[in-house]
Amino acid sequence: MGKRRIGILTGGGDCPGLNAVIRGVTKSAILQEGMEVIGFHDGFEGLVEERFSTLRLEDVSGILTTGGTILGTSNSANPFKWPVGEGEKRQYIDKSDDCMRLYEDLGLEALFCVGGDGTLSIGGRLAEKGARLIGVPKTIDNDIMETDMTFGFDTARSAATDAIDRLHDTAQSHHRVMLVEVMGRNAGWLALESGISGGGDVILIPEIPYEIEEIVSVVRKRSRFGKRFSIVVVSEGVKAADGQQQYQNQAEDPLRMRLGGVAHHLAAQIEDRSGVDCRVTILGHLQRGGRPTAFDRLLATRFSVGAMELFHRKKFNHMIAIQGTEMVGVPVEKVMNRQRTVPLDSHLIKSALCVGTSFGSNSVK
Ligand code: F6P
Repeated sequence: MGKRRIGILTGGGDCPGLNAVIRGVTKSAILQEGMEVIGFHDGFEGLVEERFSTLRLEDVSGILTTGGTILGTSNSANPFKWPVGEGEKRQYIDKSDDCMRLYEDLGLEALFCVGGDGTLSIGGRLAEKGARLIGVPKTIDNDIMETDMTFGFDTARSAATDAIDRLHDTAQSHHRVMLVEVMGRNAGWLALESGISGGGDVILIPEIPYEIEEIVSVVRKRSRFGKRFSIVVVSEGVKAADGQQQYQNQAEDPLRMRLGGVAHHLAAQIEDRSGVDCRVTILGHLQRGGRPTAFDRLLATRFSVGAMELFHRKKFNHMIAIQGTEMVGVPVEKVMNRQRTVPLDSHLIKSALCVGTSFGSNSVK
C-alpha cells in the first residue's frame, strides 16, 4: 500500500503568510503523520489541469519568512465555471467531476484549501461532491466570517500604516491634503485599522457612506486651528450616498471587476471645494507583498497545525479559525459566499471617533 496523502492548494490573491501555511501543513503532515503532501499549482487551475507536485521537507525549507506562494495561485480559476474557446466561441463548462476523479485517483484523504471566501466557497462545493475539505482563511481584507482574524492582514496593516507615516511628512511640509487609498474590497478593516494606527484625520470605509461636505469641513476646521494639512485614509470600496463604487475596469463577470481609483475622484472634489492642494497615493499591491510580520507567521503556523488537528479529528468540511485566542473549527457552509464587514457599533469606530477622527459622515459622529 502507498503512503497516505493529502492535497493542498492556495487560491485567490496572494498574501503574506501563504508560504508559512504551506510549510506548516507539509511539515506537520510529514513529521507528525508520516503522510505525503501533494501541492496543486496555481490554485484550482492545477486541480483542473492536473498540475501538481509532491512537497518534500526540502521544498518547504526557508519559506516561512517569504511573501507570495511557492505553489502559485489564481483568483479566477473555478472548476464549476471553466472557460473553453476564445472570443465569441467562449463558453463555460463544469470540470468538477474531473477534479473529483483526480482527487480519488491520487488517493487524497483531504484537500486543504488556503484562501478567501471565493476559494473556500469553491472548496465547499467540491465538499458537497464528496471531497474532504479543510479550509484555512487568508486575505489581507480580513473579511472572512467566523474568524477574528485572517493571516496576511497584519502585514498589510503594517505596510499601510508605514505609508501613512511617510505621507504625514509631505502633508505637513507642503500644507496639503494627502489621500491614501488602501485595499479591502467591501470591508473597511484595512483602512480603519491602519487609519487609526497612522493617526488619519478622516477615515472612509465602505460600511459608512461618505458625504463630501463633511470631509471638506474637517479640512477647513483643521486649517482654522492651525493644522494646515490633513490625512484622508480611503478604502477602495467606499461609497457615496448613491451607493456607487469606483472600478478600474468594465467586465461582464462581477468577479472580474476591479475596485480602485476612488481617491482621485475624492481629491478633485476636496481640492475644488476647500482650495487646499490635494495629492493621491494608491498603495495597491504594495500592501500584498513582502515578508510576513511576526504576527502573521505565528497565526499562519498556528492555523496550519490547527488545520492538521481538524484533519486528525476527521472534522472535514471545516475551516480553522481563531476566536479570541483559541483555534476552533467552523463548518465551511457558515463561511461560503459571505463577507465579514465592520459593524457600526465596533469599538474600533468608537476609538477613532473619541480621538477626533472623522468618518466623513454626519450620521457617524
Ligand atoms: O482580496 C484581496 C485583494 O487584494 C483586495 O483587497 C483587492 O480588491 C483585490 O484583491 C485585488 O485583486 P487583484 O490582485 O486581482 O487586482
